[in-house]
Amino acid sequence: MTQLLVIGLTLLWLIGSSWVSDAQAVADREKLLSDPGIYGTFAVFALDEEWGKQEPSVRIARLAALKGVVEQHREHVAIDLYLLRGLSDQADLLFRIHAVELRDTQEFLLDLSSSQFGKHLKTAGMMHGLTKKPNYAPGFPEQIKADLKTVSEPGEKPYAIVIPIQKSAEWWGLGQEKRAAMMQEHTEATLPYLKTVKRKLYHSSGLDDLDFITYFETSKLEDFHSLVLSLENVKEFQYTRQFGNPTLLGTVQSLDEIIETLAQ
Ligand code: HEM
Repeated sequence: MTQLLVIGLTLLWLIGSSWVSDAQAVADREKLLSDPGIYGTFAVFALDEEWGKQEPSVRIARLAALKGVVEQHREHVAIDLYLLRGLSDQADLLFRIHAVELRDTQEFLLDLSSSQFGKHLKTAGMMHGLTKKPNYAPGFPEQIKADLKTVSEPGEKPYAIVIPIQKSAEWWGLGQEKRAAMMQEHTEATLPYLKTVKRKLYHSSGLDDLDFITYFETSKLEDFHSLVLSLENVKEFQYTRQFGNPTLLGTVQSLDEIIETLAQ
């Protein structure tokens, strides 16, 4: 009983505490998440079998190491965490990391893997992309451009979906004008979903075996499902060579929420 109380109190202390002093700089998250020219890495991990066999006190100590590494690197990179466990058969955790320099992301991931927590992590996948200014949207009709500015409904969007995409050589061989016309059709099909689905696009050609990583947040998975069905009907979709594989579905979580879940 006393031991349980001590573990509970340690967990509460861990969740409430911060290793980073307020004076210490934290990467400008807003800028990293909205600027073009930013590297986005999706690092997917599974916890090893040893994790579940550890005493609660050991798990908490290892989760403290996770918190330490994340806070130590927050000065250079923006780190978002997702729980895949329970919804995915291949992984438990997803880290989405944004950085001006990809080597800052590498340093974070190296420190994570050599930490006491990292020794329980098995890498299940890794994808890199780059954010860019829109290629086609500036040439769209004014009405579509105005519609695209619709901000998604406020409120929690607890689900995150990541879909890697590769297009065919034929797509890249089409002229800009033909591609732009098809991307306009793509965009028109998506407009009804702007209120409930938030999106972000990463360009991956040359950085990975992919062309794009698409990232979405929503509270309405049914809307997301309908959105994808609508997109499968537009001509541009016929130039898709890889869609998903894997599609990652998880919940958006704070570091403390992840710690609480994994401590149990
Ligand atoms: C709210 C939903 C969505 C909206 C508003 C939207 C809108 C757009 C727009 C405007 C572009 C053109 C960007 C540019 O000008 O460079 C684009 C590109 C793209 N979208 Fe969507 N989209 C949505 C959902 C999706 C979904 C569900 C997928 C697939 C899972 C997807 C895959 C892509 C890809 C791969 C590109 C890049 C295509 C290329 O440059 O060849 N989008 N989207």
